[in-house]
Amino acid sequence: MRMSKAPRVVFPHKDTTALRELLREARTTGRPDAGGQPHRLILVVTDGVFSMDGDIAPLPDIVAAAEEFGAAVMVDDAHATGVLGRNGRGTVDHFDLHGRVHIQVGTLSKAIGVLGGYVAGSQALRDMLIQRARPFLFSTSHPPAVAAACIAAIHVLQEEPELINRLWVNTIYFKGELKRLGFDTGVSETPITPVMMGESAMAQRFSQRLFEEGVFAQAVVYPTVPLDKARIRTIVTAEHSTEQLDRCLEAFAKVGRELGLIGG
Ligand SMILES: Cc1ncc(COP(=O)(O)O)c(C=O)c1O
Repeated sequence: MRMSKAPRVVFPHKDTTALRELLREARTTGRPDAGGQPHRLILVVTDGVFSMDGDIAPLPDIVAAAEEFGAAVMVDDAHATGVLGRNGRGTVDHFDLHGRVHIQVGTLSKAIGVLGGYVAGSQALRDMLIQRARPFLFSTSHPPAVAAACIAAIHVLQEEPELINRLWVNTIYFKGELKRLGFDTGVSETPITPVMMGESAMAQRFSQRLFEEGVFAQAVVYPTVPLDKARIRTIVTAEHSTEQLDRCLEAFAKVGRELGLIGG
């Protein structure tokens, strides 16, 4: 977006009323850099799943708003790929918005477990990126082993959808138990489960104590998140056993009581 030098405006988190207002304004005032001429393209960009809170974008309403004002939509599905939708196809599939989201990008470094990313869009878009996109043109391509591992991971998603079921079973269990212990897991709706700590010092201390108890879970602090919203960011996988999750929960409970974050 920066490289395109297009004017950009940020809409508040998941706020489609504000988005509609901004789209209306953009359509009314036109291009600030070209004497108010109509915009050639307006692109609404959102994450599918938000990385820090684990909440899901209201994609159906974002798409509806974009359609009302003749804008295109791009979804960054880094955290939805392999998690939401049939065989982990992501939020477009999850919300059945096929054909109405123009660009879906994602990473192959999270659920896919390898490296790299993808852009799904029209042939014209793909040709343009291959011919013109500097980060692509001036980067070394993946070695064959990386490409092969990505393809193998996609095959696993296609052939073993039970892995995704297990991911969700683990997610519901882990989140439920954290809440039962008295922890605040924010607004998460996905495997990304923040455990809210408040101050940065508490989050860092908590993470250090968890490590001493045999659990590696890192603190996320300001400026990645607001000053008073420091957290331990956890994510379960399909491969975690109930015993492992229980061991982790025990450590959270012990440290939480010790540091006065939960009662009991
Ligand atoms: C929303 C989102 N998009 C893209 C990325 C980039 O992924 P990668 O580091 O694999 O390029 C991340 C990484 O954390 C992310 O959270």
